[in-house]
Amino acid sequence: MITTDEIREKYLNFFKEKSHYEIPASPLVLEGDPTTLFTSAGMQPLIPYLKGEPHPKGRRLCNSQPSIRLQDIDEVGDNRHTTFFEMLGNWSLGDYFKKEQLAWFWEFLTDILSLPKDKLYVSIFEGLKDERGKVVVPKDEESYKVWLSLGVPEERIFFYGSEKNWWSRSGEPISMPEGEIGGPDSEVFYDFGKPRHEGCHPNCDCGRFLEIGNSVFMEYEKKNGKLVFLPEKNVDFGGGLERLSMAANNIEDIFLTDPYLGVVRALEGISGIKYDDNNRNRSFRVIADHLRASVNILSEGIYPSNKLHGYVLRRLLRRSFLHFYFLCGFSDWKLDEIVLTLESNEKIKKNIEFVQELIKEEELKFRRILDRGIKIIEKAVRDGVKIDGKFAFDLYQNEGFPWELTLEISQEKGLNLVSDVKDQFKKEFEKHQEISRKASVGVFKGGLADHSYEVVKLHTATHLLHSALRKVLGDSVSQKGSNITSERLRFDFSFPRKLSDEEIRKVETLVNKVITDKLPVSWEEKKLEDAIEEGALHFFAEKYGDVVKVYTVGDPKGGYFSKEVCGGPHVKNTSELGYVRIIKQEKLGQTAVRIYAVNEEKK
Ligand code: ALA
Repeated sequence: MITTDEIREKYLNFFKEKSHYEIPASPLVLEGDPTTLFTSAGMQPLIPYLKGEPHPKGRRLCNSQPSIRLQDIDEVGDNRHTTFFEMLGNWSLGDYFKKEQLAWFWEFLTDILSLPKDKLYVSIFEGLKDERGKVVVPKDEESYKVWLSLGVPEERIFFYGSEKNWWSRSGEPISMPEGEIGGPDSEVFYDFGKPRHEGCHPNCDCGRFLEIGNSVFMEYEKKNGKLVFLPEKNVDFGGGLERLSMAANNIEDIFLTDPYLGVVRALEGISGIKYDDNNRNRSFRVIADHLRASVNILSEGIYPSNKLHGYVLRRLLRRSFLHFYFLCGFSDWKLDEIVLTLESNEKIKKNIEFVQELIKEEELKFRRILDRGIKIIEKAVRDGVKIDGKFAFDLYQNEGFPWELTLEISQEKGLNLVSDVKDQFKKEFEKHQEISRKASVGVFKGGLADHSYEVVKLHTATHLLHSALRKVLGDSVSQKGSNITSERLRFDFSFPRKLSDEEIRKVETLVNKVITDKLPVSWEEKKLEDAIEEGALHFFAEKYGDVVKVYTVGDPKGGYFSKEVCGGPHVKNTSELGYVRIIKQEKLGQTAVRIYAVNEEKK
């Protein structure tokens, strides 16, 4: 058995030997990118460079990027789909192209991972024509020749259209919005050898084939409704690490690869149910995937809530709780212990106690909702009340009982919601989603992507608060998360209790003194270890590169008020801020506090 850690290491070493620079993985929530809630591909943070901006680390890059794809959430439960996965990636920014990329990936699969050549199939883009039959993107003959030259026999090479062999974040060329980049791609599939049936092909969904890597030839951009060439021909390769592990170990079930196996075995122990019991597999899988995703999201400082990232996190946690209930009933909920069987990285290790505690709290909240909701459903069943879309929606509206769970429980109880009722529910729900979508567009406009002056000022205010909190409460205070909209800042930090009025007053006084003292704000670039050595505060060091920007409020050589590793931007002088006031505080579990603050007009 080759472990996923070994595969990751072999892949990165392979590309580093081919002059690639390993860039650090980006966080799961990308600051300043409101296009998706979570990082969903390794290329996402590289878009400006794929569009032609020079990358400081050169033209050949590689990394392993934790990613989340929520469009697969309903498919979690089969033997291969997950929401969270690690994507191995390599990129050529206007450097090498098809010949090198396909040959290297082939070498990696067949030499380094020793996959049998006769188990590998490939797919290529068949080309795209417009309504009048004019060629928009030509058939990818070049990749065809390369695959043949590598010894892939003709009968294992398949051509497909845009639906399968075109990649952009928004799918086919026709659905790419203005400014989006994309290109034809060539995928490699692993053949598990069964079941074989008439007409089976790599993209057939019978389960015989598994896609294990995708080389995208990223050379187009949508401009004025047309596909035009990007300044350079780029390669964007992505391969799911866990899927590569399935192929390398010839294991057909992703949940039997090492990132998940610990959870599966722990669940077997607690529930007394064997994983190979088909009826229950779905619950094992949902728990294993959703817990892994949740732990990774939580350790980035995102908390369960009813909005955006926090909402997704809550939904993932709640679905895993529900499936835990399906396996174990109400006893032995030990999810906070089970998470310890998941693999851990630095970020998770640093935050594990906090993560466990938040899971426990969320679990308690959910148990109460579940308990109430199930009683209502059971009573409805006893009274012969129809469990229909409206019922599910009301339960959701009134009790917070997630609508998906009513569907799942009614299915578990053998009550099938008739399809028109499902539609009726969907309509209710879409209405609701439309409202939240509009709400979140509002948030994005004022928040994540907004580098307006108000946001910049609050960003600087966040640094001031961080330092002031440490000066008042001690050095054990460290940042756990932050979020800024144009109206307010939110700052989460480690501290075991709420602040007293006196402490709040002291923190505010310190911050506002720095503002009236008109201190300069400056930045310099330096090595991360030098920044840390100098005492610069840093939040999740691993998300930074080796050279970082350090922002100082005051004199960087000494007597400064705050020094932090940060990408910016910030104001030039603290006098640009008004009056910073803490408007609210909340406790986050036993070990952290969240404060909200505003920057008011000068008094
Ligand atoms: N960006 C490509 C993908 O995600 C490699 O499949």
